[in-house]
Amino acid sequence: MVWWPPAFPLMPETSKMIPTKKDFSAKARIRDMDEYKALYQRSVETPEAFWKEQAQSLTWMHPPDAVCDTSVPGEHNWFSGGRLNVAVNCVDRHAAATPDKTAIIWAKNEPGEYENITFAELKRNVGRVANVLRSLGVRKGDRVCIYMPMIPEAAYAMLACARIGAIHSVVFAGFSAEALRDRIVDAEAKVLFTANEGLRGGKKIELKRIVDDALDGMTMVESVLVARRTDADVPMKGGRDQWLDEAMAQQRAACPAEWMASEDPLFILYTSGSTGKPKGLVHSTAGYLLYTSLTHRYIFDAREDDVHFCAADVGWITGHSYIVYGPLCNGVTTVLFESTPLYPDASRYWKTADDIGATLFYTSPTALRALMREGDEPVKQGKRESIRVLGTVGEPINPEVWRWYHDVVGEERCPIVDTWWQTETGGILISPLPGATPLKPGSATLPFFGIKPLLVDANGNRIEGNDVSGLLCIEGSWPSQARTIWGDHQRFLNTYFTAFPGLYFTGDGCRRDEDGYYWITGRVDDVINVSGHRIGTAEIESALVSHDAVAEAAVVPKPHDIKGQGIHAFVVLTESSDLGADEVSGTLKQQVRHAIGAIATPEEVIAVDALPKTRSGKIMRRVLRKIIAGEAHQLGDLSTLADPTVVDQLLEKLK
Ligand code: WT7
Repeated sequence: MVWWPPAFPLMPETSKMIPTKKDFSAKARIRDMDEYKALYQRSVETPEAFWKEQAQSLTWMHPPDAVCDTSVPGEHNWFSGGRLNVAVNCVDRHAAATPDKTAIIWAKNEPGEYENITFAELKRNVGRVANVLRSLGVRKGDRVCIYMPMIPEAAYAMLACARIGAIHSVVFAGFSAEALRDRIVDAEAKVLFTANEGLRGGKKIELKRIVDDALDGMTMVESVLVARRTDADVPMKGGRDQWLDEAMAQQRAACPAEWMASEDPLFILYTSGSTGKPKGLVHSTAGYLLYTSLTHRYIFDAREDDVHFCAADVGWITGHSYIVYGPLCNGVTTVLFESTPLYPDASRYWKTADDIGATLFYTSPTALRALMREGDEPVKQGKRESIRVLGTVGEPINPEVWRWYHDVVGEERCPIVDTWWQTETGGILISPLPGATPLKPGSATLPFFGIKPLLVDANGNRIEGNDVSGLLCIEGSWPSQARTIWGDHQRFLNTYFTAFPGLYFTGDGCRRDEDGYYWITGRVDDVINVSGHRIGTAEIESALVSHDAVAEAAVVPKPHDIKGQGIHAFVVLTESSDLGADEVSGTLKQQVRHAIGAIATPEEVIAVDALPKTRSGKIMRRVLRKIIAGEAHQLGDLSTLADPTVVDQLLEKLK
């Protein structure tokens, strides 16, 4: 990372603040910046007292006798001596207090189809699944793989593992057999949950067939539990496979909850690094649950009567923290959304929000960009009156899209929370508080309670003051910080704690503006060095996307004889674009030059039909980088590519 120079301040609009909404703030948990600052100060100056107090929101079987030990970076632990169970916190205590309240609204693939599950029903279903696992010999600490579509059984399976102390590893149901197999083997899972088929948008996904391929010749997985999502019959392997509904019907609903230690692992979740095979990040029981529920409460201003509609998939950390654990721990109704933002059309999110009375809505910039491209009309097909807070996560959001979200979707009524975090952080670390923080489109704004972000240069020197850029690190620990990489603690230490001794290194570049607001510029492995100047690809892409003709953009470097690296841009044009083929490059170069400066001008701007993306919607710049550099023969691992034909189309185009 020695190549990180002082990035120059390129972000537009940094000084324009959008004030908080009076009506919202008046009723908010944190009503203004003074309240935020006071609580933030307390959280970082007296963290033990702060976290001890917060921990009282959890139901403990035995209270912890210490708050935290964070003296050795990478060896942090929280709430030692405590005993608790996550399922008791997320299910039982609400089933006792509000048994008939809806815990989960399942929004099925087809529009207008919903199923509500109350807390009492959730408790019974989780208990049955937990007893199924026990009957299969699953014990505390065993690993269980969950490869399921967005159906209630996915949440039952996660919570059932938590109930008996098994460690779940949810693998996104869009991964291939090979990717699934690698993850099963790495975690040594002995039981696997799946469904006969998954339904997503216009597609059927043959999950059981993929599972059969993944398990072919493998003896590690002893039992496969198959949820019945469709009426498709699938081959069942004798002695290994059984239908989940039939297995559940044989079990009692009551299942005693295991007394877990605070630091016992709750789950493993795989994520890609810049090198090597996917790493299984391990999250803890107490710290994870406390931090996700606390952030959910404050960042979404969550209340008892809220309906939390997070459109993510449980296969990602967002689904773990802000569909299942955070909202349910708070007793808030959560939504499992089985479909896609564009099925059957671009009004889907908004009509769903109306149907179920969603009050909190959380999605990704990628989805918003895709929707914005379809224009305002589909948005207007939904009233959106129930929505109070709009959230975004996953990548930097370009100010234009942010504005559209704010002005068109939220009709300038709803605060936007641009939440920065990572699989490794477990919960949101940098985000506005919706009633307190004046907003800036494109900035994740300020740290949450207890979080100490700091910027360093390539040599690890701290960069003080405002209006500066650097590498984003976090000082100290927070309760939901990942504890290790499954089976490879050394890799955990090497990846996150050695680049800058004493600090957690996020891998992100970041700017702190003149008001102390944080702007995440993207992964530092995605920055481009032009004549010794580093430019965040996110910044150039934001400039391109701000042109009316551009729906999506991806920028990658290519070796350049004189400049070191040159900037190469790929764009997907909007349907309404009237740019002629011969105008694209010139016009859009000018656009970048205009928005950022001559230094950021791309060498070329290539219009393509689609960009290579992961199934979670992240653009795979690595693939573009290789293609543009003429290294198409060594594209590396393409298993996370959503649509492999995109690569062929690109190669054809660039011939
Ligand atoms: C990386 C983490 C956290 C859930 C989904 C992604 C980028 C995440 C933001 C944001 C700018 C963001 C960062 C981070 N990122 N949120 N609000 N603004 N960038 O989880 O797959 O672990 O990816 O996503 O680069 O490091 P993930």
